[in-house]
Amino acid sequence: MEEKKDMFLKSSDDFRKHGHEFIDWLANYYKNIEKYPVKSQVKPGEIKKKLPLNPPQKGEGIDSIFKDFEKIIMPGITHWQHPSFFAYFNANSSYPSLLAEMLTAGLGVNSMLWETSPAATELEERVMVWLRDMIGLPKDFKGVIQDTASTSTLCALICAREKATGLRINEKGFQAHQKLRVYVSDQGHSSIEKAAKIAGYGRENIVVIPSNGEFRMKPESLANALREDIGRQLTPACVVATVGTTSSTAIDPLEPIAEICSNFRTWLHVDAAHAGTAAILPEMRHILKGAERAYSLVFNPHKWLMTNFDCSAYFVRDAEFLQNTFSIQPEYLKTKADREVINYRDWGIQLGRRFRALKLWFVIRHYGVEGLQNIVRDHIKWAGDFAKWVDESKEFERLAPVTMNLVCFRLNPSKGKSRDDEAKLEELNKKLMDELNASGKIYLTHTKLKGKYSLRLCIGQTNTEFGHVQDAWRLLKEFAS
Ligand SMILES: Cc1ncc(COP(=O)(O)O)c(C=O)c1O
Repeated sequence: MEEKKDMFLKSSDDFRKHGHEFIDWLANYYKNIEKYPVKSQVKPGEIKKKLPLNPPQKGEGIDSIFKDFEKIIMPGITHWQHPSFFAYFNANSSYPSLLAEMLTAGLGVNSMLWETSPAATELEERVMVWLRDMIGLPKDFKGVIQDTASTSTLCALICAREKATGLRINEKGFQAHQKLRVYVSDQGHSSIEKAAKIAGYGRENIVVIPSNGEFRMKPESLANALREDIGRQLTPACVVATVGTTSSTAIDPLEPIAEICSNFRTWLHVDAAHAGTAAILPEMRHILKGAERAYSLVFNPHKWLMTNFDCSAYFVRDAEFLQNTFSIQPEYLKTKADREVINYRDWGIQLGRRFRALKLWFVIRHYGVEGLQNIVRDHIKWAGDFAKWVDESKEFERLAPVTMNLVCFRLNPSKGKSRDDEAKLEELNKKLMDELNASGKIYLTHTKLKGKYSLRLCIGQTNTEFGHVQDAWRLLKEFAS
């Protein structure tokens, strides 16, 4: 048993000692990260078995907890910051982000009100203006940082609900109201369905609009659906358009969709959770053309903008309406400054809020817009290279257009020769993916595109270099043969 002095970490000297050790450990982790298997190789329940059922009655020193962190926890970690992490969409980090996050944790600030840390609120205001300008949204958009795109989209659906009912559901509840409808393409993210359920629309009031051969929402089908619903006395409340769908980074045609929403006076929310980052490139700005007419838009710096999880940028055109929807004024939260300042507690669901603006500030200042653009531009270029290798190969085929940094493809030994046996191809590609992931060398995931089982390779990790993409292609061919 250690001496009591060491057990409870109270003195700043002890904290300093352990802090230095932790930083050393993290520096070595990043230096050696390629030695770890990208995807954790443990079986379900394996970690839990090593954890005691009951909490300890007596405290213990940091050293012994840290030993268990290395022994028990680390094997169950999937290394999202590994440069050969090509799965899902990234949740990438970076040194400036990580260092700032340490300060955030150290300060332990709750930035619910301006008064509870003026710098947190004012920095958030400023970095959201920076971000807005970086992706080319018009100046009338105002931003707030939420935890995730799921929360941002939920805020949008709640605001749309209140817009459609003149703030009545907030007052009266849903019971007395007509059916409100939400429209989303068959490629929309599951967070939209979840938000529709939580916000009280009900799953059966989600209208799924078909996508075309490029997985983009068909605007004419959207217009028909809206027209039909109005004819049936249903109330269109919100259209969610996706820029960068999860399966294939397809881009819904925002301009005609915005026109339809304007004609039908329906809230347009743009889900650009992953792809919004690409719009920091002037040559990619076109993906958000039409978003200037949306009521709200979300994009996640915590996915592809080198800012560690969580950090979701939610932009709205009418910040007053957002506040009218969410504002609650209990006596104990009133402050003298309320008339002059922003209190972000009124801009979303949570009262208590983390100080997330700090890491965004560090990231944007450290890389500069140009530095960030260079990283993102490389990722997009390498995805194009990878797609070309797939197209030129005799046994792999591409299954969707490459709009940015994601390639959807599969192994198909009889490419172009005979009719595809979908069940067999699915089995083959599942096996290929499982074996590759079990090797620990790379990590990729899959989706289904119009019934076809597809592998997904997303290039968006901060530390990925072209060599890692070449290695991934070499491994794919090696494992396939
Ligand atoms: C298009 C899209 N929207 C929303 C989300 C949900 O993001 P979050 O995890 O921040 O809620 C994702 C996640 O990958 C996504 O791809």
